[in-house]
Amino acid sequence: MSGSRLLGTGSALPRRIVTNAELAERVDTSDEWITARTGIRQRHIAQSDETTSTLAIAAARAALEDAGVEAASIGLIVLATATPDNTFPATATKVQAALGCNGGIAFDVAAVCSGFLYALSVADSLLTTGMAKRALVIGAETFSRILDWDDRTTCVLFGDGAGAVVLEAPDATSAGKDAPGILGTRLHADGSCHDLLYVDGGPSSTQTVGHVRMRGQEVFRHAVVNLADVLKEVLEDTGVSVDEIDWVVPHQANARILSATARKLGIAPEKVIVTVDRHANTSAASVPLALDVARKDGRIKPGDLVMLEAMGGGFTWGATLIRM
Ligand code: UT7
Repeated sequence: MSGSRLLGTGSALPRRIVTNAELAERVDTSDEWITARTGIRQRHIAQSDETTSTLAIAAARAALEDAGVEAASIGLIVLATATPDNTFPATATKVQAALGCNGGIAFDVAAVCSGFLYALSVADSLLTTGMAKRALVIGAETFSRILDWDDRTTCVLFGDGAGAVVLEAPDATSAGKDAPGILGTRLHADGSCHDLLYVDGGPSSTQTVGHVRMRGQEVFRHAVVNLADVLKEVLEDTGVSVDEIDWVVPHQANARILSATARKLGIAPEKVIVTVDRHANTSAASVPLALDVARKDGRIKPGDLVMLEAMGGGFTWGATLIRM
């Protein structure tokens, strides 16, 4: 039997756009350096009235509208974030309250940039075992709130935003790789890489929110190897060849990681959805944001075979193959 089916997508971005040139007025950097090393040209940054939950709610509403389903039919909300509104309760419960679909299941998943893939997998499992019929899976972040704005090695890389999908429990009659739905997922974590990408604070350690710290070059090297490996695993699991993939929707950390991974696997660059130039790295939001952009601009169509992939702090990484 195929996995859960994707009924719709939505996304939301903060109003305020910050260009590389604006950042260069604040830290010792340049538009040339940021563009050449990362492909990023601008990012959206949340203003004081925008939080992870307001972005998540807007993205969720857009996904419900796109799917043509009522909020009342949502029995499960899984929200991936590393920047929740509050330490608790889960930001997913704020989304639930705003949508008025109280009483079902709602919780957050913390797997940083791979969070959306972890959340999608958990939601798919819960739907498959009958815990709910329909789910909202959301990736939402306000990374601007955990950046050290004096550290040029990190503050130029990230942005804020949210993306959401509506998932429906698998249809018992549909099977095989041509049927719409999630065909395969692989997730991994390697906790020994903590020091390469982490936040230097938290409720139980420093009682502060902390700031993102990253050893970029080492993360880059791990990312290309881990992503290529996990993509191969999903292809092997599902019996799909690389040529059958219509689109790759990667986590948007760095344009050079996207092209290096695609090259390693022999995937044509024009099949890779790129939004890092406009959104920068929005952590858990980046995959559903890019998916929504490519569906709404007409590139990703019903029936297409789409590979989602991500890698981030932890390290965590994973990939999901889905027939639209
Ligand atoms: O989402 C989670 C996953 N995250 C990632 O995948 C990020 C992975 N890493 C990367 O994308 C890249 O490593 C970076 C974009 C972070 C950095 O690019 P890089 O080509 O690896 O540069 P680097 O760290 O080797 O730094 C090269 C030079 C250094 O100067 P020196 O030592 O050569 O004099 C840095 O100090 O660039 C300098 N530098 C900057 N210069 C201008 C670092 N940041 C900046 C900056 N502006 N913003």
